[in-house]
Amino acid sequence: MGLPVDDRAIGGGRSPFRFNKVSQVTTMQMNGNTILITGGTSGIGRGLAEAFHKLGNKVIVAGRRRALLDEISTSNPGIDAIELDIADADDIVRVATRLTRAYPALNVLINNAGIMPFDDAGGAIDDAVSRAIVDTNLLGPIRLTSALIEHLKKQPRATIVHNTSVLAYLPLATTAVYSATKAALHSYAMSQRFMLRDTSVSVQEIAPPWVDTDLIRKSGDPRAMPLDIFVEKTMAGLATDAVEVIVDEIRPIRDNPGSGEHALFNAFNLDLVANPIPV
Ligand SMILES: NC(=O)c1ccc[n+]([C@@H]2O[C@H](COP(=O)([O-])OP(=O)(O)OC[C@H]3O[C@@H](n4cnc5c(N)ncnc54)[C@H](OP(=O)(O)O)[C@@H]3O)[C@@H](O)[C@H]2O)c1
Repeated sequence: MGLPVDDRAIGGGRSPFRFNKVSQVTTMQMNGNTILITGGTSGIGRGLAEAFHKLGNKVIVAGRRRALLDEISTSNPGIDAIELDIADADDIVRVATRLTRAYPALNVLINNAGIMPFDDAGGAIDDAVSRAIVDTNLLGPIRLTSALIEHLKKQPRATIVHNTSVLAYLPLATTAVYSATKAALHSYAMSQRFMLRDTSVSVQEIAPPWVDTDLIRKSGDPRAMPLDIFVEKTMAGLATDAVEVIVDEIRPIRDNPGSGEHALFNAFNLDLVANPIPV
């Protein structure tokens, strides 16, 4: 299908699009915020929660596992915790209402919760699993952001962070639905950033590489980035005006070039067939 643009779109300097400057991200202050982090019970979410807590932010972690929520609050006095099933639309509304009442200064939302079941796009896809992935990874952040957006707009400075993945840019064929949700979340974040361009709310994206967490199975595989290094690099990136916080190690994948993407995609996936991710 052709794009609804004429050939001036590809002629140097004669594009029909006018590249007016759009205000992008206002740099997040790294302290003094009230921050909600979904998926804060483990891995990247917990790492970011503890890092922001140490910098003097009020941090609230959300997740389903009550015992882990209690443990993180006990180990980090001052971090609050709330039960939330991000795949449940009613639960999102209930929790968002409670949070905005309890924390009127809530000004940062980090949409981090996610699941990554493997699948086989070359065979029958389990509908229940696919729905769970879409509800958790895509509709969850959309619904939670929607429930909090008017509250965030009232704050003098607010930030929404979406945790996508390097796989948003280069699908892992054995996690087809997961990769698709992350590509969709990247797309959604772009639109949301544009729509919020004249408000106090900035939108940033974190696109992690393979990080050694329990998302798949914490294995110490040398190809995975250790969590502490990832958190340190990501905190540094969030402190800038980068719309996408991407560690240098995967910059070439993020910059995966247009029609050349198929060669890179095939090489990437064939390498993982030969050297599988430990599951
Ligand atoms: N690790 C990587 O290699 C990697 C790479 C790229 C992107 N990411 C992204 O990073 C994010 C965090 O993953 P991680 O690596 O830190 O894995 P993780 O340790 O397994 O953490 C996943 C978190 O999501 C929460 N979660 C899952 N389903 C939920 C639900 N229905 N409701 C509420 N919370 C839910 C879990 O909490 P509960 O179980 O307590 O609910 C847990 O805290 C994910 O979005 C993932 O896609 C990770």
